[in-house]
Amino acid sequence: MQNISKIYGNGFVANKDITFSVNEKEILALVGENGAGKTTLMKILFGMEQPQSGQIILEGKEVRFQNPIEAIAAGIGMVHQHFMQALSLTVAENVVLGIEPTKGLCFDMEKAVRMTQEVSDRYDLRVEARARICDLSIGQRQKVEIIKALVREARILVLDEPTAVLTPQETEELFEQIKILRENGHSIIFISHKLDEVMRLCDRVTVLRRGRIIGSEKTENLNERKISRMMVGRDVVTSIDKEPARSRETILECRDVVCLNENGRKAVNQISFNIHGGEILGIAGVEGNGQNELALAITGMGNYECGSIRVNGQEIKGRDIDQIRALGVAHISEDRMRMGSAGELSVKENLISDRMFKKEFRRGPFIDRKKVNDFADACIREYEIACDHRDEPIRMLSGGNMQKVIVAREFTSGANLIVANQPTRGVDIGTCDMIRRKLIDKTRKDGIGALLISADLNEVLEVSDRLLVFYKGKIAAYFENVKEVTEEELGEYMLGLKTMNQEQIREAAG
Ligand SMILES: Nc1ncnc2c1ncn2[C@@H]1O[C@H](COP(=O)(O)OP(=O)(O)O)[C@@H](O)[C@H]1O
Ligand SMILES: [Mg+2]
Repeated sequence: MQNISKIYGNGFVANKDITFSVNEKEILALVGENGAGKTTLMKILFGMEQPQSGQIILEGKEVRFQNPIEAIAAGIGMVHQHFMQALSLTVAENVVLGIEPTKGLCFDMEKAVRMTQEVSDRYDLRVEARARICDLSIGQRQKVEIIKALVREARILVLDEPTAVLTPQETEELFEQIKILRENGHSIIFISHKLDEVMRLCDRVTVLRRGRIIGSEKTENLNERKISRMMVGRDVVTSIDKEPARSRETILECRDVVCLNENGRKAVNQISFNIHGGEILGIAGVEGNGQNELALAITGMGNYECGSIRVNGQEIKGRDIDQIRALGVAHISEDRMRMGSAGELSVKENLISDRMFKKEFRRGPFIDRKKVNDFADACIREYEIACDHRDEPIRMLSGGNMQKVIVAREFTSGANLIVANQPTRGVDIGTCDMIRRKLIDKTRKDGIGALLISADLNEVLEVSDRLLVFYKGKIAAYFENVKEVTEEELGEYMLGLKTMNQEQIREAAG
């Protein structure tokens, strides 16, 4: 791939002039923090996204893929991070979906089973062709996806964070299968955050950071430390001036909190910390280390099993989202379409959706239209929301502007605790900057407390006063003063290369 650039519809530049290659019989690692642009680059290779510029050259010839069907025809296969399967169908039926063999006019199940078994035998991808998808583990379902690509004769196979959902044993199995693929002449692009895996499995490592290629190096010339540095090393950013925090009363108290994930495993494992008014506590970590479960628990969108979470002195266990908001919690999340906004409603309605029935916007039994309009216009002005009108449906706005609507609502909700979970992911640089400055402003001027969860190290280091690093549901490190942390050090804790003494962390953070 040569000089590939991709700008999404909202103006976000996900790939900047990327030149990238994979060789025959090579296992190439594509690594980078969340949001670095890895999936985007692979979607371009797979014909799912069109780049604004750049070329794809396959075995010396320039190719152009308008859609995945064309990419598949050229020998490219991709196993997505969150793949979709028809759960009620069998393995064989899923494998041949779209290329169903027929006998006369009918679907030829026997042939589908044979096609599946042949590939499964050849590459030692053991899975029962007649089993139904819904009866399989995630690891087995992933094998089905790989078989699906191989049945279509993929020679280049992209695996997007395949080990994120696997147990250690399943990971070992997958690695053996990937090596068999290499021996058979395939090229594999392996996306992962886990540096030990990358070092063990891959022949070469290519690092992306903020949409750019940072480097590509044979694994034999690298070690985990070097890769981590390439991944998280800081870019030159304009730094935000920030008054020192003047810490006030305790607003949030988490004691020995345990949260389970969907599979019943401990996603948050006995975590304790406090947040005071006037300060921003950051949580850094590779996504999937428990940060999300914690944010959901604090905001009432998820549960916690044990321990206690107190907001302004009140235990939140058993309270619902609205009751927790009433205690003083506001929530900005990255997942703005699913959790934060109602697409059909207008900008104005989204701005007041949590307070429509409150006295401030009522005149007797009626909504005070003038007050609502004035409030909406003031928000649009202050937060620089680019929309035609306050009555425009929010779904017409770009991602960054949608996020500004949510930020405006949450910052004006009267809460004294803001939970900001990946608040700037996928938004343009200007909006990022605005959100960060507002967070700092609100803590300094209004004395609110903030919890900032972010996979963006620049953001965490720039905005937080104190910092926790999450690794596998535990606090791997605690820093009283973020200014003293180097990004390299942080990377080592984030990736599990180092961990601080748990006793010390407990005393200091909680
Ligand atoms: N369809 C889209 N529209 C707008 N922004 C997007 C879209 N898809 C991804 N992005 C943004 O592009 C950036 C890179 O995303 P992605 O390629 O998924 O990164 P990675 O796979 O390295 O985590 C992220 O900030 C993401 O939010
Ligand atoms: Mg990705």
